[in-house]
Amino acid sequence: MKKLSGISWRDFKALPLLEKGDYFQGTPPHTLIAQQFTREKLQELCALATRIKRINKRRDGANFLKTLLCDKRAMLYFAQPSSRTYLSHNAACQILGLDTMDVRDSKTSSEVKGESPEDTIRTFSSYADMIIMRHPVGGFAERVAWMLAHTNREIPVLNAGSGADQHPTQALLDIYTLERSFEKIGGVDGKNIVFVGDLMRGRTVRSLAWMLSLYKDVKLYFVAPEPLQIGQDILDLLDAAGTKYVVTQDFASTMPIADAIYMTRIQDEWDAEGESSTIDTSAFSIGAEHMDIIKDTTAIMHPLPRRKEISTDIDNDPRAVYWRQMRNGMWIRAALILTTFGRQDEVNQYYDNYKPGA
Ligand code: NCD
Repeated sequence: MKKLSGISWRDFKALPLLEKGDYFQGTPPHTLIAQQFTREKLQELCALATRIKRINKRRDGANFLKTLLCDKRAMLYFAQPSSRTYLSHNAACQILGLDTMDVRDSKTSSEVKGESPEDTIRTFSSYADMIIMRHPVGGFAERVAWMLAHTNREIPVLNAGSGADQHPTQALLDIYTLERSFEKIGGVDGKNIVFVGDLMRGRTVRSLAWMLSLYKDVKLYFVAPEPLQIGQDILDLLDAAGTKYVVTQDFASTMPIADAIYMTRIQDEWDAEGESSTIDTSAFSIGAEHMDIIKDTTAIMHPLPRRKEISTDIDNDPRAVYWRQMRNGMWIRAALILTTFGRQDEVNQYYDNYKPGA
């Protein structure tokens, strides 16, 4: 087991993503990048999420879940806007009985008095047993985990979105949604997954694309206006994994073969001077007029928030799974938090004894 406490920040930072993952599996485990996951781990989390969901349906089950982590507190540190990721992590904590505290705006913390973000985080770790954090600076969550590993209070860090780079827990809920959507049609292996929109700065796509490389014979289609295409770094990782992909601007021709269509909004908060407003994105949207072209089983997904890339006209089409996708986030995050504290066996035992709703 490689330890974060045993490596300098410089050496750690310079490691390839796939090697960094080994440093996050220790005690406590951190969830920082998509590349730290194995397929086995994904399957374990998906199965656990479904069990938690079923157990929670009954009052006695919900009460049991609430006892599991009632001795723990989580700090939700969200230095960037968030609705779903914040609320679903908070709800996941509540399901497992963790109390939560939050800082949702750095302006309300002592950072405005000149305290370094590192000291701020160390302060959080004095009160909390886990930090769930979103930050505009790419790699900052890794820095936080590394820094805490060099204190006497290393607590787990969950990356709830960092920069334009990583969003591993969103990728988990997307995988869970794909697994559930394709449950009756052979699972995720062999499927065509089409990503549409701002793929250059969409951290959800960057994390999910790599996670999908853990599946057999999936084919990824990256559909975007040229200036917003997926980064070469992700394509290099897919090449190394032997995952097939197509990079294109032609959304229409991918629609009929898509098993999942993953829409994203333009991430213009990263624009230097409003440059993305000059890009014609009209062809990168989906609406009622496309519903006859796509398959009956296609899952239409979106990490949300959406703008105009998905017409509200299709919200009630059974193929529009983005609302379910959002709710899945709460269950898979509960599963992740539970495994972070190593308490999954108790849920599995409870489930096997009572088989709630199975
Ligand atoms: C995404 C994000 O923050 O990266 N939102 C989310 O977590 N569901 C996607 C986005 O903001 O477009």
